[in-house]
Amino acid sequence: MIFMTNAQAAKRLTVRVAKREDIARDVLLLRLEPVATAELPIWEPGAHIELHLPSGLTRHYSLCSDPSDLSRYEVSVLRDDDGRGGSLEIHRDVKVGDELTSNSPKNLFPLVDDAKSSLFIAGGIGITPIKAMIEEVNRRGQEWRLIYGGRSLESMAYAEELKDAFGDLVTLVPQDTDGVIDVEGAVASVSEGGHIYCCGPTGLLNAVTEKCDNVGMRAELHIERFTAPDDPREEVENDTAGFDVELRESGVTLHVGADQSILEVVQTVRDDIASSCQEGYCGSCESRVLEGQPEHRGSLMTPEEHDEDGTMLICVGRSKSPTLVLDL
Ligand code: FES
Repeated sequence: MIFMTNAQAAKRLTVRVAKREDIARDVLLLRLEPVATAELPIWEPGAHIELHLPSGLTRHYSLCSDPSDLSRYEVSVLRDDDGRGGSLEIHRDVKVGDELTSNSPKNLFPLVDDAKSSLFIAGGIGITPIKAMIEEVNRRGQEWRLIYGGRSLESMAYAEELKDAFGDLVTLVPQDTDGVIDVEGAVASVSEGGHIYCCGPTGLLNAVTEKCDNVGMRAELHIERFTAPDDPREEVENDTAGFDVELRESGVTLHVGADQSILEVVQTVRDDIASSCQEGYCGSCESRVLEGQPEHRGSLMTPEEHDEDGTMLICVGRSKSPTLVLDL
């Protein structure tokens, strides 16, 4: 997987909030329009943007509008009262007319071009990247189905819109009336050459991953996380004294203590370094490693994939060598 790293300094955009609308219980749609240009950067279904909030928080949100309409981006934000504050700030404080900054879209959840069929499984707010993806495969005339679960119909953003537009291709599973998604049956229904795309809560992702493992379909499964998997951090041996990080471009070397993340130390000298989840699943902080041996953590990619790309996630990654040299 290759995408824009911190070293490539994702371009910042200024966008204006042109609309805010409650579209389901606790789900707020924001329409964002460009401020200095007529059009926003192009994006593909599955992509997300990183919104920089007035408080300084950065959060990533999937784009769910029409990719061919670059006069706007739309994101839908679930209010999470137990979260880290980003969604609450948006629901409470962001108003029509406000200007926010955003990075250019990144796509960590792309469609597979040659899939014979696509089964989309969405849980709750996980519908947001999938909405744009199903509209795209439908435009292409490809075979697809959506199974979309949520706590209740009122909490399921876009549920009625999708059902009205696509009829039997869409199966809605509100938990309060229909129980939970039959993951085993869903995975078993995919014929050879088909791919599965899943976005939603960790329990759903784990269940779908397990079923795909059981039937040898792991390579055909594509997942997008909005939360960290259970217990993503492992103890790193010999990390009690920390290590040094040299930022080659900045010309400084910093010490990362055992109880500090590389990200927090780097951000003391570089306020342009992007981050969002700080738990190793969104990819915002991915940075290029020039020298040293990183200890990869996080769930975005396997250690082998990071090594192949020469990158690491500096919010959770550590170092096996006394010094790491980053292209920052
Ligand atoms: S900030 Fe999300 S992976 Fe590092």
